[in-house]
Order: sequence, then C-alpha cells, then structure tokens
Amino acid sequence: MIPELGYKNQTLYLEDTALGTLAQAFGTPCYAYSLSALLRTIQAWQTALAPLPHHLCCYAVKANSTLGLLRLFAQRGLGFDIVSQGELERVLKAGGDPKKIVFSGVGKTAEAIARALAVGIQCFQVESWAECERIAQIATHLNLRAPVAIRLNPNVKAETHPHIQTGHEDHKFGIALQDIPPLLARYGAHPHLKWIGVTAHIGSQICTLDPFQEAWSILLRLADQLRAQGLPIEQINVGGGLGVPYREETPPSIAAFGQALSASFQSTPYRLLVEPGRSLVAQAGLLLARCEYIKQTPHKKLLILDTGMNDFIRPALYDAWQTILPLQASSAPPEPYDVVGPICESADVFGTQRNLPPLQAGDLLAILDAGAYGSSMSSHYNSRPRGAELLVHQSQYTCIRLKETWDALWQGEI
Ligand code: LLP
Repeated sequence: MIPELGYKNQTLYLEDTALGTLAQAFGTPCYAYSLSALLRTIQAWQTALAPLPHHLCCYAVKANSTLGLLRLFAQRGLGFDIVSQGELERVLKAGGDPKKIVFSGVGKTAEAIARALAVGIQCFQVESWAECERIAQIATHLNLRAPVAIRLNPNVKAETHPHIQTGHEDHKFGIALQDIPPLLARYGAHPHLKWIGVTAHIGSQICTLDPFQEAWSILLRLADQLRAQGLPIEQINVGGGLGVPYREETPPSIAAFGQALSASFQSTPYRLLVEPGRSLVAQAGLLLARCEYIKQTPHKKLLILDTGMNDFIRPALYDAWQTILPLQASSAPPEPYDVVGPICESADVFGTQRNLPPLQAGDLLAILDAGAYGSSMSSHYNSRPRGAELLVHQSQYTCIRLKETWDALWQGEI
C-alpha cells in the first residue's frame, strides 16, 4: 500500500482527505488519484534516469489518458508514448510537447500519420513493412522527412499474463530481427525517412529484470550494427513494462530498474528513451464504490457493488488481483465475501472469498491500485455512465473528470 493511503481513526484516507467525503460529494463509483503519489513516481523515474545524460521519459498514455493527469506529466517535462490519433489529440490538448511524442502501434492510420508529421512528433516506431511504406508515401506527399525508429520484436518471452506479453515472434508487435535487413535495403536510404532509432516493448507487469536485460542487449547490438552501416541511429527506446506490486509480486523498484539501465547504456553513444505507463500511475489511483446489496447464495455471500467491469476491467480480463478495503475499518471478525459488480456477465467479479469486516448495503469500499488501465479501459457497457475522477492533494481535491450525465450514453446517436 502506498504511504499516501491509510486509516486514521478507522477511516480510510488518501493523503489528508477522508475517502468518504469524496464519495459523498461526487457519488460512486469514482476514481481518486493522489497527487503526492504521482509526483513521487515522476520524481523516481527522473532520478533513476539522471545518470543517463541524454534521456527522455515518455509516459505511455494508454495507462491513463485523463487530461488532468496528462497535463501534470507535460508540466513536469515528460514526453508521451501514443498509439492512436486520439491519444495524440489528448496529449496536444493537455499541452504536451510534440517533439517529445513517440508513436507506437501496429495499426497507425494514414490520417494519424499525416497529423503526427504535421505537428512534428519525435518519431514513429515502425512496426511493419506496410506501415513503413505508408509513412514514406505520406512524408513524400507532404515533402517532409519522417523521423523513424524500428520496433524490433526481440523474440524474448516475459513471464506475465499471456494477454500482455508482446515480445515473442508469434505476437503481432514489432519486426523480427531477420526481417530488418531487407526492410532497410528498401527503405534505409529513402529521402523522406530518417532512421534515428531502435525500440522494443516486450510486455507489461514484468517483475524481473532478466527479460528486459535480454531485450536491451539485442537492441544495443542492433543499434550498433545499423550505425556501422551508416544509418544515423541516435536513440534506443526500451519501452515500458515495469511491474508494480498488486499482491505479492516483488518487481524491481524504479531505482533498481534505472541502475540496470545505466549499467547497460551509460557508456553507449545513444539517447535512452523509456515508456513507463503502469509504474507511473497504477498505485496512485483507487476506485471508490458503494455496496448496493448483500446476497446470500447456497455457498457464499456476495457483495454487489455499484461499480463493475465496465468501470474497471482488469480483474475480469486478466484475472488480476486488486486489493479491496472497506472505508470504515472494524475490529469485528472478518467474513469472506465474493465482491462482484452489477454487469450481466459472470466475469464481473472483483475478488473471491475476500475477508472483509461485516458489511451492509450502503457501505463504501476502495479497490486499490486502479490508477493504470482503469479509467482508460472503461466503457458504457450495460449503459452505465462513467463516474467522476478526482485529484487529491492533502485535504484538497479537484474534479478532473465530471461524472457523466445520462446524455453521455447516447451522445452522437441518431
Ligand atoms: N509502450 C508500449 C509500446 C506499450 O504497448 C505499452 C503497454 C507501454 C509502453 C506501457 O507499458 P507499462 O509500463 O504500462 O507496462 N491493459 C493491460 C496492460 C496493457 C499494456 C499494453 N501496452 C493491463 O491492465 O494489465
């Protein structure tokens, strides 16, 4: 649990704000983020990267794309890793510097490529031959030179949930090592492409350094080879993927990750880029919910919440563990509950057989570590409007996203 979260007189606080106050003022479900925790992780990444004189930390926007958070990252000098034109527009709207934007993703549209070229992003991370052709055509048409990096698929397997592994040759991401020479034979000297770097991203929620280090050495070798062939390679982007402790995982700290990066890259001529998402925002956020009903089934007691997989899909999609705490602690002996949402799907479960104090309808709970891949993966499924998002600082709080009105459900429909 982060130091910004804890009980005072048996009441759960985020910083100096009683979470019950937020539920009262903004309704449930709602997301709350601790500004101090966000600033702490930003600082941790900046300190970790400091030994590398030329570096750029590009926050992976997909982890949480709410403007209020993007604005904070932009103000603190971070760059951004984007995967769609929508993410690009969000970053620009939040005041992000286009020269610090890297563009990943296997399905970049022509419109997105043209827009990214027009605003002058840092680079495109090319994921296929066909994409390379498209970028070259659009850059030629606009008479611009597109900065490009090769996204390598290093064929490294990372121990994490299969849905979030990305670095094996059977995955759709990146370009296999053996396919790079023919690609460069065709496009290496293209007048409207400038090959400035190499990159790889092997997966997410990775809790050991080994697979990272394996990928880094492959990237480094590739960069050196391409440079020796005369390409102006000046940067290596190692992607994101550093895990956080949701339960009993013991991922390397951001500092330890930084030390390993320094050991691998400090004496190389390259600018080093990283794309952390989860490790910047996961632990700073939580989802507040209210218990609608208690239901006894033949074998268990269900706690039916007013939040569901539409608001936070990680438990349903990845069988992910998320700690659940009552807002009011109690010395009464705990009881096992299955904590579920209201959605009409049996996967809509936040936790099974969780020991919680005896609860009643109306009681409030917090689902922890929900800052990453929470709000950004939310939907209107079952026609449920999204709740508010709040940024908490000490005893103050700002609403950075209003609770949606019913109209939001059918906006744009005719
Ligand atoms: N860079 C690229 C190219 C990525 O695809 C990703 C995440 C990141 C950086 C950031 O990775 P992170 O530091 O957050 O691990 N929805 C899943 C995670 C999907 C990650 C997708 N790519 C979850 O909730 O676990």
